[in-house]
Amino acid sequence: MPAQGELVTVSQQPTEVDVAVVGGGIVGLFCAWRARERGLSVAVFEAGDRDGVAWPVAAGMLAPVSEAQFGEHGARALRLGLAAADRWPSAARELGEASGIDPALRESGTLVLGRDRDEAEALEREAAHRERLGLPVPRLRPSEARRREPALAPTLRAALEVPGDHSVDPRRVVAGLRAVLGDDVRPGAPAVRVAAGEVELASGETVAAGRVLVAAGAWTGELLGLPVRPLKGQVVRLRDPSGPGLVTHTLRFSHVYLVPRADGRYVIGATMEERGFDTDVTAGGVYELLRDAFELVPGISELIVEETLAGLRPATPDTLPIVGEVDGVVVATGHGRDGVLLAPLTGDLVAGLLTGAPDEELLALCDPARFDRAGAAA
Ligand code: GLY
Repeated sequence: MPAQGELVTVSQQPTEVDVAVVGGGIVGLFCAWRARERGLSVAVFEAGDRDGVAWPVAAGMLAPVSEAQFGEHGARALRLGLAAADRWPSAARELGEASGIDPALRESGTLVLGRDRDEAEALEREAAHRERLGLPVPRLRPSEARRREPALAPTLRAALEVPGDHSVDPRRVVAGLRAVLGDDVRPGAPAVRVAAGEVELASGETVAAGRVLVAAGAWTGELLGLPVRPLKGQVVRLRDPSGPGLVTHTLRFSHVYLVPRADGRYVIGATMEERGFDTDVTAGGVYELLRDAFELVPGISELIVEETLAGLRPATPDTLPIVGEVDGVVVATGHGRDGVLLAPLTGDLVAGLLTGAPDEELLALCDPARFDRAGAAA
């Protein structure tokens, strides 16, 4: 077995770089950073201005417990999510120190809320499911929830507290990763073809590399024929002109969430739409987000709308990510709704794979071989 820092596969061609990373989003950058820390040279090829890139849109929730789903796939996603959430405090600290940019990890917990009897009953089922998983979430009376968050509407019916589910600011994380990686990131360099040991860029340039990693989000399917599709999410970003404090926890209710930032900004998300690569922001999408958020936090009506935008999550048929090797190319994609949460974990998994020290147990949960190349479960 090769020592850490040694390449597993040696290209027969003249190698310009140990690892060519296709994709300069949060996953690709984390992988590049972790690979470089293990002694590999890296070059990240970032596609440039492309509508629908997920990380600038993402709210940055680190919420494996509040997002835990029922069923076998849900249990696997939870394993990955908990392993990822454990890594975030040290990853955020390291990144902040290395880059000088605070990634704004906000450890203020999450409240999951119900507005009416149906939602209150659904919350009870959610709470019981988490108890069975050994992850108890305290039930709060509406008055207790309103004591923690006075801006909540008096009509609130039920609440769960998830104290360990936090958030981070993905724009600050990516700014930090770019600062740390410096000239190893080549902006505006989309790839049009990848193969083992080789990347062809849209400019016509071909780059030889010891290993190729594709972390191109929703566009990975096009490059590698994997069953990764874009899952559109619209968000509304608001700013409170009187500063922070209206809401301090991340709030989740039904399909909507509201994530506060330390500077008085808020992200309300997100729609889930099967519309291919469409990135239009629609009146209906924005209306539904604001309507639902307003019902629980009426004070948001005073806030300023700063941005409305849509991102494309890379989704897989079973909602689990794809991290592993396909035809001699390493791939890290399909993180769906959890790209920000899973990015540091994915960076560690990929760096382990590239240096001959793979975490077999966690990689087995993300194995590309579970799909055939036409997209069906193998
Ligand atoms: N992580 C939340 C979302 O994708 O909407």
